[in-house]
Amino acid sequence: MKLDFPRYTERLGAVSIHAVQRIYELDSGKSKGFLSSHQTIKKFDYDEISNILHDMAIIIPVKEEKLKLLEGVLSGIPNECLVVIVSNSPRSPVDRFEMEVGTVRQLGRFMDKRLVMIHQRDPALGDILKKLGYDSILASDGKVRNGKAEGMVVGLLIARMYQKDYVGFIDSDNYVPGAVNEYVKIFAAGFGMATTPYSNVRVSWVFKPKVRNNSLQFSKWGRVSEITNKNLNALLSNITGFETEVIKTGNSGEHALSMPLAESLHYSSGYSIEPYEFVDVFEKFGGLFASQYPKMIEKGVEIFQIETRNPHFHEDKGRAHLNDMLEAALATIAGSKACPAELKESLEEQMAQLAETKSHRKTDYRKKYPIIEPINTVPGDDFAKELREKAETFSRFGGLR
Ligand code: GDD
Repeated sequence: MKLDFPRYTERLGAVSIHAVQRIYELDSGKSKGFLSSHQTIKKFDYDEISNILHDMAIIIPVKEEKLKLLEGVLSGIPNECLVVIVSNSPRSPVDRFEMEVGTVRQLGRFMDKRLVMIHQRDPALGDILKKLGYDSILASDGKVRNGKAEGMVVGLLIARMYQKDYVGFIDSDNYVPGAVNEYVKIFAAGFGMATTPYSNVRVSWVFKPKVRNNSLQFSKWGRVSEITNKNLNALLSNITGFETEVIKTGNSGEHALSMPLAESLHYSSGYSIEPYEFVDVFEKFGGLFASQYPKMIEKGVEIFQIETRNPHFHEDKGRAHLNDMLEAALATIAGSKACPAELKESLEEQMAQLAETKSHRKTDYRKKYPIIEPINTVPGDDFAKELREKAETFSRFGGLR
């Protein structure tokens, strides 16, 4: 892969947010070096990418997706990666989860891939986390809460169990396996460029095509992304005093974290997880408040945003779903202790407009989008031992223990 070095970086305390980087070649061949001398382009050959992928887990959250799409996504993930599928699909009247397990088992045999699966609402998983004191992810019924973020955090705990250094997240409703393959390689390229152990790589889609008037429109930004990015940039501009548009990936579902960073972040529930990663990183490492992580402050945190060559084709889940996602993002920014009063007011107005069609009761957004504690509060060995012994839905393929 050949891509440019970051051309511009916005800095906030120990955090470096690199502007969007462009890919020049998806595959730049096997040999090292350039034909001519280059100081602006970084080249990764097969082996460099492959070495990073060996240390990477790809976490796939699934809830009631078409099995054909899940199959395609699995086929796009390079063989070196460990795949962790966390499902929240219904178990009755038809056991959709069992159908997913059957599909993965069959495919896994041909792919010879290392795959693990679990159901997010497995009662034993809830019991184990309760016993280990990790209540912030649990619902009142004692099981892990519903929600995409909750599934992703379960995936993180499992990736850590297999000693992975990097974790990437890929949605299971992607129509293009080749795009999935590109996302994973983008994650590897970002980590390969990082100068600190604490890094976040976020995919910026070149296009998110929509069908309008019976033809494909290659639009770049959806409404949710546009508004989320604008408000995250406003947060950053308000803190630094300099206007910026550096953030382009506020909602990026396809993103990756180095494990040392992933372990120390708080996560926000459901679809608010992606924008909240920015907020949490600013609060923890932006130099705004006293930090519990002096070592991380010393080494710095890097955020990469890399633009794909493949367009992003995924399932369209409708307007109400998009409004919910936008509300989650705005609430997350407004809830930040780094958010100045004026911006908070503007965010509240934007949320009120979204809620116009809904009830007029005042919503407690902290309750609606609860915060999940960092996974470094869960003792890894105990979690692994108990999960292997007790969780019935914890399935492993490809010779994994
Ligand atoms: N395990 C689990 N648990 N997975 C879930 C849950 C859940 O409760 N809810 C949804 N998922 C899975 C879906 O099956 C899909 O694979 C993925 O999470 C994303 O959910 P979608 O409902 O398809 O979201 P989207 O496509 O509208 O939005 C995606 O892209 C946005 C950026 O455009 C999400 O990744 C958003 O978080 C992201 O901001």
